[in-house]
Amino acid sequence: MTILAITRLRDRALSGHGTLMAQCLEAGLPVASSCSGRGACARCAVSVLEGQEALSRPGPHESLVLARNGYLGQVRLSCQCRVLDRHTSVRITTGYW
Ligand code: FES
Repeated sequence: MTILAITRLRDRALSGHGTLMAQCLEAGLPVASSCSGRGACARCAVSVLEGQEALSRPGPHESLVLARNGYLGQVRLSCQCRVLDRHTSVRITTGYW
């Protein structure tokens, strides 16, 4: 299983534990935030290009914040999302990487 962050410069393999946001930060990728990962600002949103099924399901709070910010489909709050299935590849990206 690979968790891959797709960027303009080079793709980064993510590893470790915790939320997608934590894994991105651990890999040296910046993640926008103004709520310090509390699930309030939606600035940490990432597009899931592949492997949505391997991720934790959005809870009611995450779903509300995503809807409030107009995010539909394959977008998740990286601070609220965890990889549960370590046998499925996941590819994510943002507009600023
Ligand atoms: S960092 Fe604010 S919602 Fe994720």
